Amino acid sequence: MNMRQRVELKFKDEIEFLKGWKRNKKAVGAIAPTSSVTARKMASVVRPVSGLPVLELGPGTGIITKAILARGVQPSNLTSVEYSPDFCRHLRAQFPDVDIRCGDAFALDLVLGAQRDAQFDCVISAVPLLHLPVAKRQALVIDLLERVPIGRPVVQITYGLLSPVVALPKQYEVCHLAFMLRNIPPAQLWIYRKVA
Ligand SMILES: C[S@@+](CC[C@H](N)C(=O)[O-])C[C@H]1O[C@@H](n2cnc3c(N)ncnc32)[C@H](O)[C@@H]1O
Repeated sequence: MNMRQRVELKFKDEIEFLKGWKRNKKAVGAIAPTSSVTARKMASVVRPVSGLPVLELGPGTGIITKAILARGVQPSNLTSVEYSPDFCRHLRAQFPDVDIRCGDAFALDLVLGAQRDAQFDCVISAVPLLHLPVAKRQALVIDLLERVPIGRPVVQITYGLLSPVVALPKQYEVCHLAFMLRNIPPAQLWIYRKVA
């Protein structure tokens, strides 16, 4: 293997990410893949003992996917919804047993098909929200919370200071999970939970 091939192999995910970013900057929403420490923090909310599947949105190059699997989730118990067909191809090659759905996180009933009424243990989302109208962001969180049991989290990464979605006290609460300095750019992690 020559030097160029070695560099390409080492930075495979970063190269794939940059290509995706060049194709659609708004949808990709970041200039570098999520750091592994951020991915692990997001995946830390997963409770594999629940036996329920996990729903991931916007897996990109798969760093968070890898962290979710490292929590002990069976690949067949993870459904990952990604908008970009190029990222989907990359993900399917990397995670052949994960259920990779190529589609829009804002049209989940359509994307999930027979799994549309499934309950998930939690949702881990890296879908960029800040460029979208507030009503659309809120509708997504409300939709996601219908897909997890009461009290279980929807986790969202964002690059703004505040939560991209405000709490609706009678419907769901918002909690700050972490500020991740070791991420490019630094990121905030938020949790949304339905209140009983
Ligand atoms: C910030 S990047 C995720 C980075 C990923 N964690 C990584 O390290 O590669 C956001 C991802 O969400 C995807 N995405 C954006 N809008 C989406 C949508 N409506 N439905 C599904 N995926 C979407 C993008 O294609 C991109 O892969």
